[in-house]
Amino acid sequence: MKAAVRQVYGPPEVIKLEEVTTPAPGDDEILIRVAAASINLGDWELLTGRPLFISILAHLFTRSQRYEFAPTSVTAGKGGFFAPKAKILGTDLAGRVEAVGNDVTRFRVGDEVFGMADAFGAFAEYVCVSGKAPIVHKPASMSFEQAAALPQATHIALQGIRDKAQVQPGQSVLVNGAGGGAGTLAVQLAKLYGAEVTGVDGPTKLDMLQSIGADHVIDYTQQDFNRNGKRYDVILDMAAYRSVFESRRSLTSSGIYLMGGGSGTATWQSALLGPVISKLGNGRVAFLLAESRPEDLLDLGELFEAGKVAPVIDRSYPLRDAGEALRRVGEGQGIGKVMIIP
Ligand SMILES: NC(=O)c1ccc[n+]([C@@H]2O[C@H](COP(=O)([O-])OP(=O)(O)OC[C@H]3O[C@@H](n4cnc5c(N)ncnc54)[C@H](OP(=O)(O)O)[C@@H]3O)[C@@H](O)[C@H]2O)c1
Repeated sequence: MKAAVRQVYGPPEVIKLEEVTTPAPGDDEILIRVAAASINLGDWELLTGRPLFISILAHLFTRSQRYEFAPTSVTAGKGGFFAPKAKILGTDLAGRVEAVGNDVTRFRVGDEVFGMADAFGAFAEYVCVSGKAPIVHKPASMSFEQAAALPQATHIALQGIRDKAQVQPGQSVLVNGAGGGAGTLAVQLAKLYGAEVTGVDGPTKLDMLQSIGADHVIDYTQQDFNRNGKRYDVILDMAAYRSVFESRRSLTSSGIYLMGGGSGTATWQSALLGPVISKLGNGRVAFLLAESRPEDLLDLGELFEAGKVAPVIDRSYPLRDAGEALRRVGEGQGIGKVMIIP
């Protein structure tokens, strides 16, 4: 099969289109022919190895991939502790089940599915996922592209807006990084639950944010939402590049600040200090660590079929241009999800 392969952390140029062996599913595995994959900012972070703590976590917790690369491959002779485990990146995908292991009963060959590859590898013609991976049947009215645009963003947005923040009608919700994959879904969900929603992102994304329902938009290059004198019941921060303590001042007294993505400092502040500072003064602070849950994908599928939520798709690239597609995400040019079509 063809796959977008890299051997080291680095810029998009380290990715090459290569021929590698198609993995054969073990007893508890599913082989999926990828029809569409989408890029998350996390793929860019794992490509470049920045922030460092993301790469370290991924290295510790990622299952090893088992591909055979040609002797001429960019991976030849590369390995060791400091080499990335995920030679083929990509988690979010949609496609058709090509083969199933003996112990798999949830799926049959030919089923149309979407979800997340649990050892990466979605930027390829085929990917093997474990039976425990968050993969579900694709709703019939959802295209493969739409389905592949959803998985990781779904977990973050549903678990942030619905489960942790439990957004109620009439509440004021601010989504920072609202124009990204998770942010665009979070804006739509907060509107669905009856909130007044403010979306914060760069100038090129503000029209799109209004088109998906944001009541107010803030261009972060022009205005700091922490200094506009407003207070919010819920802040979902997908681009926390400032101190969590600063953002907390924008909460109402019973509000909640959820840190979903951003700098290492903001991550540690919210994860380690959040429980302590939540007991002192204004509002609560928490780190949102989204779990991969198949039931979330089913819930979002239902909302999609009811016409209540839809992914925002930027553009699609062929597999051979995976590096360019990743660059578009890393440099923040995409308006909505950037797709790879093998
Ligand atoms: N919490 C979890 O469980 C979890 C799980 C997976 C991933 N993540 C993390 O979640 C984060 C977001 O993921 P995503 O896929 O939604 O990313 P994304 O699609 O790239 O969206 C991020 C958005 O934030 C905007 N942005 C950048 N700097 C900003 C700033 N200073 N203020 C406001 N907005 C800003 C970006 O726009 P421009 O760059 O164009 O300005 C972009 O639209 C990533 O850091 C990822 O690692 C979290």
